[in-house]
Amino acid sequence: MEYKNLKYEIENRVNVISINRPEKLNALNIETFAEIDHAVKSSVANSDVRLIIITGVGDKAFVAGADIKEFINFSMEEGYELSESGHKVLTETIESCSKPIIAAINGYALGGGLEIALACHIRVASENSKMGLPEVSLGVIPGYGGTQRLPQLIGKGRAMDMIMTGKMIDSNEALAFGLINYKTSQNELMNFTKDLAKKILSNSSNALKNAIRCVNANFQQGVNGFEVEINEFSRCFETKEFIEGTSAFLNKRKPDFN
Ligand code: COA
Repeated sequence: MEYKNLKYEIENRVNVISINRPEKLNALNIETFAEIDHAVKSSVANSDVRLIIITGVGDKAFVAGADIKEFINFSMEEGYELSESGHKVLTETIESCSKPIIAAINGYALGGGLEIALACHIRVASENSKMGLPEVSLGVIPGYGGTQRLPQLIGKGRAMDMIMTGKMIDSNEALAFGLINYKTSQNELMNFTKDLAKKILSNSSNALKNAIRCVNANFQQGVNGFEVEINEFSRCFETKEFIEGTSAFLNKRKPDFN
């Protein structure tokens, strides 16, 4: 499919989805959000893709939030629908994705932009990045899971501070908080992220899928993550990848999971 607001590239089994509205700092309108949903689902269905990177076009913004112009006249019902559909994409399509998803944050990641990054499995940010949930300054609150995922990652006190002040933090602070996993120079962001992808992809895709499911289970209400882990662990024993990984170890060679 041709995307209007995204670039979609596949190279070395990695799909890079770049949000492409740089003149609007990649603000997330409903159309862009639907395209992200479609692009990630296509990559999940595509056996040539084993890992997804989400980034923004340009050197200024990852995503500067939901498109404010689009929701300015929304009613309560429309607000509900916007938030509910956003939650569905971030929780079901991105966070629960069976293939690893890395956010390569290349600038402003604000509001819905930070919320996309929070739903990804790993975050890498360039040193010029600024991250925040400024919604209260607009008279709303984060509506794509920010009030839930931010405290999960950085703790309640820091999350309350960021959400109530609406302040932006830089990549040093984000790294110290555990909001991002790695910080790089602006130039090195994509190379670093692709190297990280390569390292992850040297491991079993099946094991990665099961591990993602288990870690997510820790945050799902009413789900016993330990039980999920027992089940996912046992499932690994019936895969070709388990035979390959263990026999490679015993034969003192690198496993080939491709
Ligand atoms: N929604 C819609 N348009 C947005 C946007 C958003 N979230 N963020 C930026 N834009 C648009 C601006 O309106 C401007 O468009 P214009 O040239 O047609 O006027 C363009 O992107 C460039 O942004 P600008 O504000 O001129 O850049 P800046 O460098 O002066 O400031 C920011 C950058 C990120 C500080 C500022 O754009 C901003 O505060 N954006 C909103 C962030 C936000 O509140 N996000 C949460 C939304 S729920």
